[in-house]
Order: sequence, then structure tokens, then C-alpha cells
Amino acid sequence: MPRRVVLITGPTSGIGAGFAHRYAADGYDLVLVSRDENRLTELATELRDEAGRAVEVLPADLAEPADRGKVAERLAAGVDVLVNNAGFGTSGEFWTVDPALLQSQLDVNVTAVMQLTRAALPAMIDAGAGTVINVASVAGLLSGRGSTYSASKAWVVSFTEGLAGGLQGTGVGIHVVCPGYVHTAFHERAGIDMTSLPSFMWLEVDDVVRETLADIGRGKVVIIPGFQYKALTTATRMMPRSLARAATKAFGRGRGRT
Ligand SMILES: NC(=O)c1ccc[n+]([C@@H]2O[C@H](COP(=O)([O-])OP(=O)(O)OC[C@H]3O[C@@H](n4cnc5c(N)ncnc54)[C@H](OP(=O)(O)O)[C@@H]3O)[C@@H](O)[C@H]2O)c1
Repeated sequence: MPRRVVLITGPTSGIGAGFAHRYAADGYDLVLVSRDENRLTELATELRDEAGRAVEVLPADLAEPADRGKVAERLAAGVDVLVNNAGFGTSGEFWTVDPALLQSQLDVNVTAVMQLTRAALPAMIDAGAGTVINVASVAGLLSGRGSTYSASKAWVVSFTEGLAGGLQGTGVGIHVVCPGYVHTAFHERAGIDMTSLPSFMWLEVDDVVRETLADIGRGKVVIIPGFQYKALTTATRMMPRSLARAATKAFGRGRGRT
């Protein structure tokens, strides 16, 4: 059997770590990309011990053009699966947040997704097979929740849906997963207080990963894990946009985050 390889951005924590463990268990070799080299090395050792997989560590800050270039070069050499998962949110109002932080959010959440997908596709198309999974957010489907973060995720949804049409017949699939609130380090790192969120709104990483891979198996392009978020996104799609925006602001904590 030829080696199957998955490259995952942001595998040292949360959803990316969930994908890394699942793909290792499914027999894939891995290329792990994020900034913290120590955590990458620890995870690589864990995955080699746990599942006996070959693991490459590729430290990179996806906000930096040169680092994105290194990752693009590795993708051009060929992988079977690319998981564009790295991303972050920020707290505060748009007009007070450091412009450099907003730019790096755009670079990680959007530019990296575009460049890495562009780098991966030619080899996949030549092989007539491959999968790209982009991690967006339910925030990308609902208007009125924050500003730059939601907008970055809406870009990822639109990009993926457009490209899915273009890739038809090539043997390559592209999918976007739109999770709601997931128990990870995301909100603490962003400085967003989540203490008042009702427990039924929380998703677990393993459930998000399991549902994503099951839906990819069914050929879905836009994947919304969790019954509560399927219901929420369906309901808001049917409302007038102004009402959906007001509801998102009230229940989705639209203030105090970008
Ligand atoms: N948690 C949620 O509620 C939720 C909901 C919807 C969507 N999402 C999306 O899910 C994805 C994963 O988030 P998570 O919840 O798992 O968050 P997390 O636990 O904070 O993990 C984020 C990962 O991204 C990496 N990363 C962040 N900035 C990076 C950069 N500049 N360059 C390279 N890697 C970087 C981090 O590694 P290093 O710090 O080592 O670089 C880490 O491995 C994100 O795209 C997020 O927007 C999360």
C-alpha cells in the first residue's frame, strides 16, 4: 500500500489535534504545521508511539509570507489530504484592536487558506485524487457576529463552495466545516469570556472530527456539526437578514469581538 499523507495546520491544540489523532489512527502519515516547535515535536512523538506513523514537523507562522512559502513548497511535492485548520479570533472592538493583529488574523484565516490550497491542488489533480478540508465556523454563515473573524470565515465558506464546483470531475474533493462553539483553547486565547454559554451549545472536538469525516464520505461540501447548529443555521437562513443580524448580536455575542 502506498503511504497516504495528510498535512494539518494548527494540530497542536483543539480541532487540529483531533484531526491529527484521527488521521494517525486511520493509517495516514502526517505533516504537522504550526508555530510552537516544542508542542509540534511532542505531538509527533505521541503520534509515532500511539499509531506508528511517520510524522514530519514543519514549524511555520502562517501570518508570515516566507513561512507560508515553506508550507506551500511541501504541499506542491504532494499530499493526499490538506486540512486548513489554523485560525484565531480576537476580543475587543474592531476600532480599538491593534491593526497589526487584525492583519495577521486575515493572513492566517484567509491568505494561508488560499495559498496552501493553491499549492496543494496541482499535484492532487495530476493524481486524480485528494481532499482539502477547510475549517471555517458557523460565524461564517451568520451575519452580525463580530466583524473580521466572521468575515474571514465567510470568505472560507464562499471560496470552498466555488472551488467545489470547479473541481467536479477531477477526483479531488474540497469541503468546509462550520463548527459552532467547541471546547478548545480558542476562546481563552482570544480573551473571550464564555462562562454564560449554555452547556448544550458546546461541541466536543472528537464529535466535530467524526461528523466531518462522515459527511465527507457522503460527499457533503458544507458541513455543520451538531443538531443544534444545523437547526440554528437553517432557521436564520429563513429569516429576513435584519432579524438574523439582530438575533446573532443578542445570542451570539456580537459585541466585544472582531
Ligand atoms: N473553538 C471554537 O469554538 C471554534 C468554532 C468554530 C471554528 N473554529 C475554528 O477552528 C480552527 C481551530 O481552532 P481551535 O478551536 O482548535 O483553536 P486552538 O485550540 O486555539 O488551536 C489553534 C491552532 O492553530 C495554530 N495557530 C494559530 N495561529 C497560528 C499561526 N499564526 N501560524 C500557524 N499556526 C497557528 C495553533 O498553534 P500555535 O499556537 O502553536 O501556532 C493551534 O495549533 C480555527 O480556524 C478556528 O477559527 C473554532
